[in-house]
Order: sequence, then structure tokens, then C-alpha cells
Amino acid sequence: MKNKFLKRISDLTHIHHRAAFVDVKDRVAPKTSAFLALAKERYSCRSFAQKAVSDKDIEQILEAARVAPSAANKQPVHVWVVRQPESLAKLKEATQYLYNAPVAFVVGCSEAEAWVRKYDGKNGAEVDAAIVGTHIMLEAADLGLGCVWVGSFDPAKVLEQFPQMDGYQPVAIFPVGVPAGEPAENHGKRQTKEEFVTEL
Ligand SMILES: Cc1cc2nc3c(=O)[nH]c(=O)nc-3n(C[C@H](O)[C@H](O)[C@H](O)COP(=O)(O)O)c2cc1C
Repeated sequence: MKNKFLKRISDLTHIHHRAAFVDVKDRVAPKTSAFLALAKERYSCRSFAQKAVSDKDIEQILEAARVAPSAANKQPVHVWVVRQPESLAKLKEATQYLYNAPVAFVVGCSEAEAWVRKYDGKNGAEVDAAIVGTHIMLEAADLGLGCVWVGSFDPAKVLEQFPQMDGYQPVAIFPVGVPAGEPAENHGKRQTKEEFVTEL
């Protein structure tokens, strides 16, 4: 049985019966499979060539991050580009997982600016930051760059090293660079569809 989302995607195949929507169908169908290929090809890259990432690629990653959705469009997320050797050295004080990448993006969120769910008071800032981070990872992969989500860092040390981040809570660090390694074993290990999905 297809789940609701798959059904909605497959519904798009009927759009070609309506001349006015031919363009929409042509745009949607190839993009869907290109996205799935990208989602499967992306892996956590933990080894980088000693080569700079171009300004153009950095701009494109930032643009993908900027357009990420957020709860109630509150946009409580900020991104810091850490590229200067002195700045990378400071960031290294807070994590051992920069893998000598030539650039790292730090994603932070501000709970004070975020949407709060009225039913239980749940603050949306971290979820919004995770979406921004996901856009960063996937855009980097689409550009042929390597990237890894780093959650293992000392947030207090990050804030101590970078007073510019005052008011934000660092959520994730993304080292990015030209890949020089292979995916680790975990990349191939995922739950089966049966384990992962339940239709209710
Ligand atoms: C929230 C989160 C935190 C992570 N933190 C780290 C980290 O601190 N260091 C690291 O090397 N990888 C980290 N990873 C990468 C995961 O280990 C990796 O995504 C997982 O093993 C699956 O492998 P794949 O990304 O190659 O498919 C993190 C991933 C996520 C989503």
C-alpha cells in the first residue's frame, strides 16, 4: 500500500491530461527522481582534499540554507561561515570533528525568536535549525562536495570562541570540502521500509 505522500506524487502523473499543467508535470517528474538519487548518494564525508571551496559554491550552499522553511516562518536560525585559518583553529577548540575541512558552517538557533507550540510549549528553534542543516548537506552533495553533520561539539566552547554568536545556541557544525574518502559502513545501514514505516 502506498502511503499518502507517495500517492500524492503519483497523482502528479495525471496532470498531463490537463494541457495547462504540462509544464508542471515535466518539471516535477524528473526532479523527484533526481532528488531521490541525491538523497541516496549523499554520505557523511570525513576526509577532505586540501583544496579551497569556491566562493560561488559557498554562496550556493548559503542560498539553499536561507530558503529553508521554518515554523510560522519565524526564521530563528543563523549561519556562520568559518573559513579563515584562525577561525577554524578556534572552532577546533570546541570539536575534534572538523576533519581538516577548508570551511565549516555553524548553524545556530534562537529560542527567543522561534515559534512555540501552544499545546505543550515545545519550542521550534532546533527543528528549524535541523532543516537549514539538511539543506546545507544536500546542497553540498549536489555540488559534488563532501559534508558531514557534526553534533559532537562543546556548545559552551563554541560560544566562548565566537562572541558574535551571542544569543544563539549552536545546533550543528558542517565541515565542507572536496571529498577525499569513501562513505563509512553506516551509510549503507538503514532500517528496512517495514521497520521504518507503519501505515495506520
Ligand atoms: C544529528 C547528527 C549528528 C551527527 N554528529 C556527528 C559527529 O559529531 N561526528 C561525525 O563524524 N558524524 C556525525 N554524524 C553523522 C552520522 O554518523 C551519519 O549520518 C550516520 O552514521 C549515517 O551515515 P551517512 O551520513 O554516511 O549515511 C551526525 C549525524 C547527525 C544526523
